[in-house]
Amino acid sequence: MSSPPPTSSSGNPLRFLVTAGPTWEPVDEVRFLGNRSSGRLGAAIAEALAARGHRTTLLRGPATTDPAPSPHQTDLRFQTAAELEELLARHWPAHDVLIMAAAVADFRPIRQEGSPRKIRRRDGPPSIELEPVPDLLAGLASIDHPGTRIGFALEPAEDLEAAALRKLAAKTLHAIVANPLETMEADGIDGTLLHADGTSTRPGSEPVSKSAFAGWLADEVIDLHRRRITASGPPTA
Ligand code: CTP
Repeated sequence: MSSPPPTSSSGNPLRFLVTAGPTWEPVDEVRFLGNRSSGRLGAAIAEALAARGHRTTLLRGPATTDPAPSPHQTDLRFQTAAELEELLARHWPAHDVLIMAAAVADFRPIRQEGSPRKIRRRDGPPSIELEPVPDLLAGLASIDHPGTRIGFALEPAEDLEAAALRKLAAKTLHAIVANPLETMEADGIDGTLLHADGTSTRPGSEPVSKSAFAGWLADEVIDLHRRRITASGPPTA
């Protein structure tokens, strides 16, 4: 299947790729290493973009809530970081903007040959060897693609901005959402969008609901992408 190259003339619907939720990395037939991400914010961002008429593909991890049905939205599932990596490789070329809200594992159990057998208590406490998971978002920076890449950074409040700026640079992003770790399971979100040009924007001085934040972020990112495309001028033949 060949896909049209990313486009974005002003006012036209854009194509968004949004990732949400945790990865689950199998330890054996019944157990996994995961994290506490609910995927709620990523799903709300996808919903806000689709509600604005943009074609949105949501790549969604395990145990995340079902997105609201929309004719503009496609919902695809992943379980492991490797599955998410494969979906990103397949779908990013046909999208204009990536919003990487998924909480991707940094380490996973090393896969043994064949299917992993259930670890038995009688065999004593296991020692589980881990290997690093590649940084999926950083990896996409080396692909020749004119699109806009947005990351997320969940960090302790005292180091939030500095850590988010480090990730913005290290992953060659166009912007990053800096989010205090302390609000992880709260209903409100106190996020700031840090742009690669050194500016930053926030929805207000107080935390807002996840759906209000998602709507605000959708508008910010649409604007950011359109400004980038306008600034880079028409494509040369
Ligand atoms: N990310 C990714 N691949 C990974 C880990 C993270 O693509 N293996 C992405 C996340 O989706 C997020 C951004 O990178 O958009 C920052 O993720 P985070 O977990 O905060 O940072 P890490 O790079 O994993 O660094 P650290 O664990 O040291 O905080």
